[in-house]
Amino acid sequence: MPRLSVNIDHIATLRQAREAKEPDPVAAALLAELGGAEGITVHLRKDRRHIQERDLELLRRVIQTKLNLEMGTSEEIVRIALKIKPNLATLVPEKDEEITTEGGLDLSKANPRLKEVISLLQENKIPVSLFINPTPNSVKKAHKYGSDVVELHTGLYAETKTELDMATELERIAGAAALARKLDLGVNAGHGLNYQNVKKVCLIEEIQEFSIGHSIIARACLVGIKEAVSEMIRLIE
Ligand code: PXP
Repeated sequence: MPRLSVNIDHIATLRQAREAKEPDPVAAALLAELGGAEGITVHLRKDRRHIQERDLELLRRVIQTKLNLEMGTSEEIVRIALKIKPNLATLVPEKDEEITTEGGLDLSKANPRLKEVISLLQENKIPVSLFINPTPNSVKKAHKYGSDVVELHTGLYAETKTELDMATELERIAGAAALARKLDLGVNAGHGLNYQNVKKVCLIEEIQEFSIGHSIIARACLVGIKEAVSEMIRLIE
């Protein structure tokens, strides 16, 4: 069975909206683990829009599953990663103006900095995953870069509107996953997966781990509202 790593960034998004102390992503991570998550994923962005260094430090100390750190390749973030030593570093492209990570890494052009960061992380015993679009070329390039794992971008699949487009995207993901396994790469997948579209990607046997954030946190907000309101009413009474 594939593992689920829960991305808790948006718990921090809610906290940062008020620059408050709650909700605390560290508490959310522990509850996600109680719910059966086998990993916790966070993205420490350059602009610190959600996860902060404090979160990362605490998560490293308290979670009992695996910490997957999504990160860019800036010097500052790499320095933090080397200090925190996550169980997996997932390298992603990062743009200031994007709402969320928009696409996989562009591996078509030589990227000496990427190569350097991969080596630096691995020398420090941190396995590396590259977030890539699900194409044979990207998988081959990731392998050449010496990545340990690839995370296949499922965003396009998640956005498809017709059965036909969905089937085409699934085939692309399945093809990329099979090739990655053949090259002995670990295979993760994520982005845009939700309660409606996850089942079909789960049929791709080569995928070992799913990284899912927004839909889980969104559902958690809604399924928890009734109880939260009842608790407040009891206090007011
Ligand atoms: N994988 C990567 C590399 C991501 O950047 C994100 C979003 O932070 C996810 C997975 C999770 O995507 P979503 O929040 O849409 O489930």
